[in-house]
Amino acid sequence: MRKKIVAGNWKMNMDFSEGISLFSEIVNMVRDEKKGDQIAVICAPYIHINSLTQLGAGVVKIGAQNCHQNESGAFTGEISAKMVKSTGCEYVIIGHSERRQYFAETDELLAAKTVIALQNNLTPLFCIGETLDERNNGSYYQVLEKQLENGVFTLNAEDFAKVVLAYEPVWAIGTGLTASPEQAQDIHAFIRAKVEAKYGVNIADDTTILYGGSCNPKNAAELFAQNDIDGGLIGGASLKSRDFVDIVKAFN
Ligand code: G3P
Repeated sequence: MRKKIVAGNWKMNMDFSEGISLFSEIVNMVRDEKKGDQIAVICAPYIHINSLTQLGAGVVKIGAQNCHQNESGAFTGEISAKMVKSTGCEYVIIGHSERRQYFAETDELLAAKTVIALQNNLTPLFCIGETLDERNNGSYYQVLEKQLENGVFTLNAEDFAKVVLAYEPVWAIGTGLTASPEQAQDIHAFIRAKVEAKYGVNIADDTTILYGGSCNPKNAAELFAQNDIDGGLIGGASLKSRDFVDIVKAFN
């Protein structure tokens, strides 16, 4: 079922006590101010997620920012999907552009991570997005289609229906240069059309597609008002409780 989701991605920010304090503020504000059926999620570093699942009290859901592609084993420093799930976490970001860029995560590796996340009953927040060069040279439709084809279109219809997609133009991440509502809607409609071609109109209509890339309290309402934008994946603005909750409230 298509959902309205605002997910914060804290990235590598917030030490333990900072995270507890910020999250407690967010929970209290969401509890007092959220109206409607939108879902608020915080995707935190691993060190936080067990504590936050206790504090979240169902008001704010918790996600991880990654998981390993293997069930278990000799992978020093890594965290499995099963471990993430054991903390009470419900979501996991997969394929963030920063992991594709800095950790050389390929479409094939991300497909494997998506499968094991689903096998462990986590909801993948699967990210796709083009670089500035790809935007400027006009190859972005092909780039996005390839990321979908090789990343999540390898799933059967039942499993794909559990995935949340996130379109994050790399050139908008952390830059303050947000995609215009028209640009974002154009890509979200393109993504939904590709989902329909692969899995049919019902699954396409039910697929949640989030926008990420310099989404903030000033532009969120116009973005979320677009037909094919179902919410946001929020970086910088999720590090300030007021800003994040104002984005949660931005649905008309
Ligand atoms: O995952 C969301 C993130 O990449 C967007 O970052 O700081 O542009 O909101 P930001």
